[in-house]
Amino acid sequence: MIRIAGYSQYFNRGGVNEVLALENVDLRLEKGDFVTVIGSNGAGKSTLLNGLAGMYPPDAGTMSIGEWDVTAWAEHRRAAHIGRVFQDPLVGTCASLNIEQNLALALKRGRPRRLGIGVKRRQRDHFREQLRTIGLGLEDRLKSSVGLLSGGQRQALTMVMATMVDPEVLLLDEHTAALDPKTALQILELTDQIVRAKQLTTLMVTHNMAQALTYGNRLIMLHQGRIILDVAGEEKTSLTVDELLERFYSVKGEAFALDRSLLC
Ligand SMILES: Nc1ncnc2c1ncn2[C@@H]1O[C@H](COP(=O)(O)OP(=O)(O)OP(=O)(O)O)[C@@H](O)[C@H]1O
Ligand SMILES: [Mg+2]
Repeated sequence: MIRIAGYSQYFNRGGVNEVLALENVDLRLEKGDFVTVIGSNGAGKSTLLNGLAGMYPPDAGTMSIGEWDVTAWAEHRRAAHIGRVFQDPLVGTCASLNIEQNLALALKRGRPRRLGIGVKRRQRDHFREQLRTIGLGLEDRLKSSVGLLSGGQRQALTMVMATMVDPEVLLLDEHTAALDPKTALQILELTDQIVRAKQLTTLMVTHNMAQALTYGNRLIMLHQGRIILDVAGEEKTSLTVDELLERFYSVKGEAFALDRSLLC
């Protein structure tokens, strides 16, 4: 379970460029919740995920991951419990290492890195098994340098790495946005498959409202640092993109306009 209570986050506090990126945010995720996160540019989506990951000390509020109050924990300490995938496929993997070395690093997440990244035979079998599930044939290329993989293959590998040691929470920040539409869909399907199979508690940021409605069991919408919409279960399933837009504008107190670009 993830609990965020009264979380506020400023940037450049007290300066001329002060921004209140998140204001008194409360969010509670049950184990296995797959939450899609939408909102316009600058709404605070990345700040919410980064804040939970411990990238900056919160200006107010508390956070807990599982049974731990992590409010005062530094990012590296929280990392043991968090899987993350970013927009850039180059970020999550190390290009100069081969596939099995990358996976070996992922196995050590949050634990002190001892010398070397040697791979034992038993681990290798485990890696093959994990890679087989994603159906890209990477299980036969364990010794291939990751730098030779396509963006989609790297992002798929990053998904496997981020979830190999079951994280308490999986944070996906527009992790398919840099991929072509077909590959993006494959990675989304892979995400859905892994999240469901492992029952991972997940926050997935996307600018694609149709995808935000298709995937996950719950959807939240952020606007100017606040959660302005939170729908789950059947209410989410029955929502359409147009209804979602309507809800967005009604919460904002503005007339419904068919301007999707505001959210996309
Ligand atoms: N490191 C930072 N320093 C200063 N301001 C920041 C920083 N990170 C975010 N902000 C500001 O905080 C606000 C929220 O930004 P955030 O990146 O969380 O938005 P977002 O919802 O992820 O937007 P996008 O859809 O563009 O990714 C914005 O006004 C942004 O300019
Ligand atoms: Mg962002």
